[in-house]
Amino acid sequence: MENFIFHNPTKLVFGRGQLEQLPSLIPEGVKRVLVTYGGGSIKRNGIYTNIMKKLTDNGYEPFELGGVEPNPRLTTVNQGADLCKENDIDFILAVGGGSVIDAAKTIASAAKYDGDAWDLVTKKAQPEDALPLGTVLTLAATGSEMNAGAVVTNWETNEKYGWGSPFSYPVFSILDPVHTYSVPEDQTVYGIVDMMSHVLEQYFHTPTNSPVQDRMAEGILRSIIEAAPKLINNLESYEHRETIMYAGTMAFNGILQMGYRGDFATHNIEHAVSAVYDIPHAGGLSILFPNWMKHNLSVDVSRFKQMATRVFGVDPTGKSDEETALEGIDRLSQFWSSLGAPTRLADYDINDSKLELMVDRAMKRGPFGNFTKLHEEDVRKILQMSL
Ligand code: NZQ
Ligand code: ZN
Repeated sequence: MENFIFHNPTKLVFGRGQLEQLPSLIPEGVKRVLVTYGGGSIKRNGIYTNIMKKLTDNGYEPFELGGVEPNPRLTTVNQGADLCKENDIDFILAVGGGSVIDAAKTIASAAKYDGDAWDLVTKKAQPEDALPLGTVLTLAATGSEMNAGAVVTNWETNEKYGWGSPFSYPVFSILDPVHTYSVPEDQTVYGIVDMMSHVLEQYFHTPTNSPVQDRMAEGILRSIIEAAPKLINNLESYEHRETIMYAGTMAFNGILQMGYRGDFATHNIEHAVSAVYDIPHAGGLSILFPNWMKHNLSVDVSRFKQMATRVFGVDPTGKSDEETALEGIDRLSQFWSSLGAPTRLADYDINDSKLELMVDRAMKRGPFGNFTKLHEEDVRKILQMSL
């Protein structure tokens, strides 16, 4: 392992009815709260009314920014930052999934920055301050509720990048599994694929003396694999929503990534795909990840074999390491498609007509990946395998 320091300042408030805690979680001195949300799901399931009432009953002045898009856009972030500056907002409450939370994180820093939020996303400028933010999570997927990352898309340039700063950690996140009951089946599946991908991005790493981290990662993956099909059969099961929600947070709150850096190359390629085609993030991952694995099998076949045997229970008897590893990759792919996730870019009507644009966008920041570095020809190959 490499040396590390772990510090995650987000207070996680988990369980049924935990929204009751909201007023006591908002920092002292806050008066004017910007509530950010997406395309209206929180109005249909009643969460919006509940939150607005709690805020006004407790003496806060609420402002709102609705309509945050899935794959949130720079234009919306800049609009939110202007709203904060014009109205002297002193706290942001993000109510939604990863998109709403990521937009809120970026708004929080942009509100204290004199310039375009894109400067922060592209790391041209570092935030020196930010508004505090809290979240009420309504979709289990990204882990954004307990990490400092945010992903923003610039549609003018077809670029989608992740960024983050220590200011971006939510002060608190309220996770009530009941808030995810209304998530439709397809989004539930995407969430499951995304959280599994986060675990896998971290699972494929060097150095490899990470027995504790490995077992934690495998435990999370196996718990998800067990619960996911049951949840898809019963979208209002508290038990399974609870398991999946907790798994999503643990998958990407930093705890798995002690002593090494995860790979995250597949995420980088996916962001390039959705910057060009605006497809759901995890739809892209379920197509790309198995192909990233096949492409990089020889980097360290033992890790792929370990995934196959420990996570998917592949019997290695009489097989070469490579055969066992490939069987594991197939099992992963089959598992995702059994839930209804796509397997080919063609499922989104994506062909090779903009392949070079996607390669270019993925390569904008140079070769990437920590398990192994991907160069232009690797990215092209993985995309071609995924068509
Ligand atoms: O917009 P509304 O109407 O709320 O509907 C949303 C949206 O259409 C809906 N939804 C959310 N909660 C719901 C619900 N529908 C019914 N009932 C509920 N309770 O779900 C749809 C998708 O929401 P979105 O927030 O876009 O999904 P997700 O949480 O998967 O976030 C995806 C974004 O996060 C980024 C992705 O790239 C993408 O932009 N990521 C962020 C990460 C991070 N910050 O750490 C890491 C990830 O790898 C990822 O890249
Ligand atoms: Zn992801």
